[in-house]
Amino acid sequence: MSPPDQTKTVRGVKLHCDPAREPCFKVVELHKDLHDYDDMSEVSRRQRLHRHMHNEMQTLEIVAQGLADFPNVSWELRMQMARQCWDESRHSAILYRRLQEMGGRKGEFPVMNYEWGVTQLLNSLPARLAVQNRTFEGGEMDLLRQQENMWNQAGDPETASLMDALLADEVHHVRYANRWLKQMAHENPRTLMQVAAGVQLLQKITAALAPQTGEKNAVGVNLTDFTHVEVMTNVDDRRLAEFTDAEIADLLRKEGFGSLVAPLTPGA
Ligand SMILES: [Fe+2]
Ligand SMILES: [Fe+2]
Repeated sequence: MSPPDQTKTVRGVKLHCDPAREPCFKVVELHKDLHDYDDMSEVSRRQRLHRHMHNEMQTLEIVAQGLADFPNVSWELRMQMARQCWDESRHSAILYRRLQEMGGRKGEFPVMNYEWGVTQLLNSLPARLAVQNRTFEGGEMDLLRQQENMWNQAGDPETASLMDALLADEVHHVRYANRWLKQMAHENPRTLMQVAAGVQLLQKITAALAPQTGEKNAVGVNLTDFTHVEVMTNVDDRRLAEFTDAEIADLLRKEGFGSLVAPLTPGA
């Protein structure tokens, strides 16, 4: 008997079904149903912390599920994943506490399990490390540096310093994944196929769920403006996380800074 289908279809693509959530959470499936604001008003500050808290919860669940799904990988890698679970649960708790200090509460805003929905479709650990740690958390490193500045500029150095503290852990999560992916690719060339399959699936789902031009979210923010909130590549921390100079240059090129970095091929 085949196992029950654990997928759902959203805008024509398959995603893994949502993880269990307490009844206080309203779970949505599209960016447009979230309450992302584009300012630093009181409600927006709470929403940012709430979204971030939920994101850390999801990361904990993704890495813990990886430990359960891939019991035969090396002990050292499993220890790294277990330590990451501890970091992510601490991150969730830190953000929850700050949310409460600001008068917010768990379940105050809708949440979306996008990262879970993508990663749980991937049936190899290299693909999950590539998508979760290297891509999602690599992106989070860029975002956290921006957020630290945003909170400082909004007159909240306490929350800003939390962003800085979380970033130090995220660098480590990205770095250990980079190291293990390199080693696994060296030992088994099939790893690269698994990574490519993961990245391809991520691109397909991201494209399908991307907000359409002019689409507004539940609080009236234009999503095609919002999704590109000046998140620039955090070059210093990406170096610490052991992205190569070529990979960083590629990211900068995609952000329109191609003239600042070396050409793709010598003489090109
Ligand atoms: Fe985290
Ligand atoms: Fe992390």
